[in-house]
Amino acid sequence: MIKFEDTHLNNIIELKNISQSYDGGKSFILKDFNLIIEDKPAQGQFVVILGMSGCGKSTILRYIAGLQQPTSGEIKIHDRARVEKDRVGMIFQQYSSLPWMTVLENVAMGLEYKGMEKKEREVKALEMIELVGLSGHEKKYAQYPTLSGGQLQRVAIGRSLLSNPEILLMDEPFGALDIKTRLQMQEMLENIWHKFNSTIIFVTHDISEAVFLADDIYIMKAAPSCIADHIAVDLPLQRDRNTKREAKFLSLVQEVEDRMMKVSELR
Ligand SMILES: Nc1ncnc2c1ncn2[C@@H]1O[C@H](COP(=O)(O)OP(=O)(O)OP(=O)(O)O)[C@@H](O)[C@H]1O
Ligand SMILES: [Mg+2]
Repeated sequence: MIKFEDTHLNNIIELKNISQSYDGGKSFILKDFNLIIEDKPAQGQFVVILGMSGCGKSTILRYIAGLQQPTSGEIKIHDRARVEKDRVGMIFQQYSSLPWMTVLENVAMGLEYKGMEKKEREVKALEMIELVGLSGHEKKYAQYPTLSGGQLQRVAIGRSLLSNPEILLMDEPFGALDIKTRLQMQEMLENIWHKFNSTIIFVTHDISEAVFLADDIYIMKAAPSCIADHIAVDLPLQRDRNTKREAKFLSLVQEVEDRMMKVSELR
């Protein structure tokens, strides 16, 4: 298992000695789970979590989002317990847009907490709508089938990024999309996330998606789960469609697949 040196140096997220049981301690979904993510405020970072279905990936995101407490262990943001004003955003696999609002209202909502005037909010929201590739759709209601699944995820990503989250949690956000839309969404996210200096924690089952987006990949083992492996993705910061054809990318995908298979054998 991976041992994390506790440096106490500018960690943005620390999950320490986490365990999770749903049957009063007879069995554990998570046991001795530790994950420390260093703060990189001026550049942001992209962390991907991989692991078999049911190993507890969504559970980990729910802890960080403050939606759930573990059976035991500590969750810290900036070396203290999570507080309400921590800027943590979450995007779920199913669409997280508000269907009674238009695309523009949804995206502009990301700025409301700042007390910015409506006009200024709209100008900024329109810039974001263009960045996420939704120009021309701003007056539509953010609901299916007026917008497609991929477009609804673009709305959610635009709103989340505009609210300038320090931590953005993304739980299989492209899982329900067709392959073409999924690849477009990967490129869109890759192109824009650098601008926001957020720490993104992204869960996926797609190894190519993981390598394309990540700075760091963590692999969880089957329950009782913890982080069993870590791979630093040594690819250029700016990546595009051609990156996926490079020998280095392909060998990294193979390496992650091999290491996932090894992890899957751990008890
Ligand atoms: N309230 C609950 N009561 C009992 N078991 C639960 C509860 N919530 C989650 N679990 C169990 O915890 C385990 C981890 O669930 P989680 O959703 O975190 O997995 P996951 O890694 O996100 O899986 P997937 O890749 O399928 O999304 C599962 O076995 C699930 O059944
Ligand atoms: Mg899940």
